[in-house]
Amino acid sequence: MLQAQLTIDPAHRVAPVRRRTFGTFVEHLGRCVYTGIYEPGHPTADAEGFRGDVLALTRELGVTTVRYPGGNFVSGYRWEDGVGPRERRPRRLDLAWHSTETNEIGVDEFVRWSRLAGLEPMMAVNLGTRGVAEAVDLLEYCNIPSGTTLSDLRVAGGAKEPHDIRMWCLGNEMDGPWQIGHKTAHEYGRLAAETARAMRMVDPGLELVACGSSGSSMPTFGSWETTVLEETYDLVDHISCHAYYEEKDGDLGGFLACATDMEHFISTVVSIADQVGARLGSGKKISVSFDEWNIWYLSRHQSAPPPPDWPVAPPLLEDHYHLADAVAFGGLLVTLLRHSDRVAAACLAQLVNVIAPIMTEPGGRAWRQTTFHPFAQAARYASGDVLLTEPVGPSYETGEFGQVPVLHTVATHDDRFTTVFAVNRSVTEPLELELDTRALGAVRIAEATTLTHEDVYARNTADDPERVVPRPNTSHRGDPARIVLPPVSWNVIRLARS
Ligand code: AHR
Repeated sequence: MLQAQLTIDPAHRVAPVRRRTFGTFVEHLGRCVYTGIYEPGHPTADAEGFRGDVLALTRELGVTTVRYPGGNFVSGYRWEDGVGPRERRPRRLDLAWHSTETNEIGVDEFVRWSRLAGLEPMMAVNLGTRGVAEAVDLLEYCNIPSGTTLSDLRVAGGAKEPHDIRMWCLGNEMDGPWQIGHKTAHEYGRLAAETARAMRMVDPGLELVACGSSGSSMPTFGSWETTVLEETYDLVDHISCHAYYEEKDGDLGGFLACATDMEHFISTVVSIADQVGARLGSGKKISVSFDEWNIWYLSRHQSAPPPPDWPVAPPLLEDHYHLADAVAFGGLLVTLLRHSDRVAAACLAQLVNVIAPIMTEPGGRAWRQTTFHPFAQAARYASGDVLLTEPVGPSYETGEFGQVPVLHTVATHDDRFTTVFAVNRSVTEPLELELDTRALGAVRIAEATTLTHEDVYARNTADDPERVVPRPNTSHRGDPARIVLPPVSWNVIRLARS
């Protein structure tokens, strides 16, 4: 059995837990919106067509914010298509996902759904095919109470109160050649700056996100952030990061350590932002909005042929996650929390059906994928301050990241509980964890759970939705100093004052 030690000390405070870490993402893509959050006629749908089963699971997931409407979709989107009487809304080609967009759901319906789910909406504007004027129009439509043509249009559509959306993304993945209206860093930086300047004329208090890189392996990674921030530094609050991971070439050990890349991504972007700030003589700090992250078997998606026609809401990117995916995913959550000093927001991409923790059958059941559980537990139990924890223990060799620690952890601490989130990345070995809790005073284990399975590729399905769920870990036998973490496992240990 492997052995590791972990010291938990409230003095090792990183930052408060940021509630926006537990954001997610709803894009007009595949079945995320249609037959995901919205399906009139579904047995659980309300009068507006929102699925009650998905709303209940969204609340259970503990999501705090939700980014909308894309993603790649936003770069060809005309927001006006989605407002006003439904029968007059146009059907359009969605070039990003080779689909037909019916526009049954638009900004007003989305904001209503967000409020029903108890979420803060986060809006992206189209800086692919559109620009400053359309972004300002959308802002006026959403946030001005009334008295202008656009705000009165919203009121006439039934949304009497302004949507009051505080956080806005200035485009999506504009560094990616796949993006409609893809731009160079300089072109995008100028457009983002001018859009931000005009949006701030409407509302100086908005929080604005400039597009960073679509991944740390982009050829422009680093230089993109530098140029974009040189153009936008005083006008934006956050820079985005996006990252997706998958097991490649059967390298499970390397995959379980994919958070190493996220770690490097965040640290690099933060240091670039600080260098640009220093060069500009600015006292301001830019934070990271990690507004797309997940496990995504992108290589399978890329090798699938595009649909022959332009279907409405086809099943796209419907990855079915197994235990190992959930454990790698838990590692990404640990990393986001560990960087709470600079990661101000994050969005799990996406919420329903599309690389999602929640799956639905059209007209039928909804269920929790394996990845639902680490997210729900972290959203529920991470509270108070984030504490840095540095395990002393074994490491292993990976092809992609060199030597990485077997145990990956973070803790949070409030006046009632200290919670340790821990991933055992070993593919074969259980790990005995010795906890040094002396700095916490007398504590007991109030609850310890483990998400694992003898088959690391076990999945949940509509017929067997509880195959992979967190189960009590009783290996501590009441001793807060010692607990065994099985191989390939996500663990939550809650310590309470005794
Ligand atoms: O989340 C799926 C897609 O991944 C998004 O549309 C895009 O922004 C990213 O490339």
